Amino acid sequence: MSDRKLAVVVLAAGKGSRMKSDLPKVLHPVAGKPMLLHVLASVTALAPAETVVVVAPDMAAVEAAVAPGRCAVQAKPLGTGHAVAAARETLAAQIQDDDADLLIVFGDGPLLTSETLRSMLEARRAPEAAEIIGLAFRPEDPAAYGRVILDDSGHIEKIVEFADADTAQRQIDLCNSGIVIGAARCIFDLIGRLGSHNAQGEYYLTDIFGMASAEGRPAGVVECPAEEVLGVNSRADLALVESIMQQRLRRRAMAAGATLVDPETVWLSADTVLGRDVTVQPSVFFGPGVTVGDRVEIRSFCHLEGADVGDDVVLGPFARLRPGAKLGRAAHVGNFVEIKNVELGEGAKANHLTYLGDATVGAGANIGAGTITCNYDGFAKHRTTIGAKAFIGSNTALVAPVAVGDGALVAAGSTITEDVPDDALAVERSQQTNREGVAARFRNERQVAKKPDRD
Ligand code: UD1
Ligand code: CA
Repeated sequence: MSDRKLAVVVLAAGKGSRMKSDLPKVLHPVAGKPMLLHVLASVTALAPAETVVVVAPDMAAVEAAVAPGRCAVQAKPLGTGHAVAAARETLAAQIQDDDADLLIVFGDGPLLTSETLRSMLEARRAPEAAEIIGLAFRPEDPAAYGRVILDDSGHIEKIVEFADADTAQRQIDLCNSGIVIGAARCIFDLIGRLGSHNAQGEYYLTDIFGMASAEGRPAGVVECPAEEVLGVNSRADLALVESIMQQRLRRRAMAAGATLVDPETVWLSADTVLGRDVTVQPSVFFGPGVTVGDRVEIRSFCHLEGADVGDDVVLGPFARLRPGAKLGRAAHVGNFVEIKNVELGEGAKANHLTYLGDATVGAGANIGAGTITCNYDGFAKHRTTIGAKAFIGSNTALVAPVAVGDGALVAAGSTITEDVPDDALAVERSQQTNREGVAARFRNERQVAKKPDRD
């Protein structure tokens, strides 16, 4: 393949009104990541010289999500051809080279793979390649997609939008994905001459194929699986795309050596990393930013986000790891334990009914059932430090800022407000008094006073 320059335009200026959302459509997450960023990740695999995202004037949020990548603003949504033209100025420096290529993709199609994009690039860079190449697919239901009409030599004669297609054209099952690669100079030349005399009164990017063919510049076609070019136009589409993305991520996790006991019930984020010989029991949720080491056992009903789980950890059932949870090797976190912004040392255990927030817990420490770090005073968060091999008795409240030393022991039921020295025992609870016979006496009195229940 030659090393001609490649520039990319990502179209994202569409209103997405069918989403009925305040969030621009392309920022809706799929596997915990805005769909536009999935598209950009696939594109980046081709190492383009420049990528420009075309947005509408009111899409500052999209520009922020793309930064430091560049955006161009399409002043009015006058069609896909018009949208590509809006990127021309921003791209000027990149497409001046006579032989620069341009790739056009849609921001609302997060399932597109870099493999498919690479095969388009290869087709474009093959000897005697067509000047422009469209990506087509054959869906089970061609619905309202634009139809690709091939000539006798297998080149694209034209693409007809569904709204403009006649009955015979609507029978064609080869559909247009909208994705195009070609010589930048050729594409911009054709786009500059587009008209909008069609059913929707738009400047159709797709019209460049008919124009090229009419001028004796045959356009090529590459086909891809229908799944990859599913576009998101509604919440139902979003759910469908999410389910396909989840299948891919589960397959990837299993291929990397994790056992998902019941894959369909495990929800993964695009960036979830599971190590070798990890076992994930049914019904576990991985939010963004989770890395899991080797040989970790994650039992059912755990919820993790922004967490770094070391090798040989045992988690759950019903554990919750929030952002900043960092579990050292062989730590144990059990049922109904919530951990946020905490470094848990190697082999430390917090097995039952506990909240640890903004804390450092030393290696081998044991956190008893019902321990709570009181990290928030209503205004600010404070840290708790627990030393190595410290033992925190059940039902302890640690009122931060506070430190418990290495090897220290905190008696059950204590409310700790002052630091505990290394190897000390801290007891903070009132003296127990036993009053002999009082319970029996109380019971007798109540039984005498009680009237029979019978009527
Ligand atoms: C387009 C294709 C159609 C194809 C279908 C595949 C055209 C004319 N038609 O139709 O052949 O089968 O995709 O999904 O290209 N956009 C802008 N500015 C605009 C209009 C659209 O940025 O003025 C962006 C949208 O945000 C979207 C993409 O372009 O990401 C496609 O636009 P959309 O309106 O969904 O095109 P379709 O009508 O579905
Ligand atoms: Ca569409």
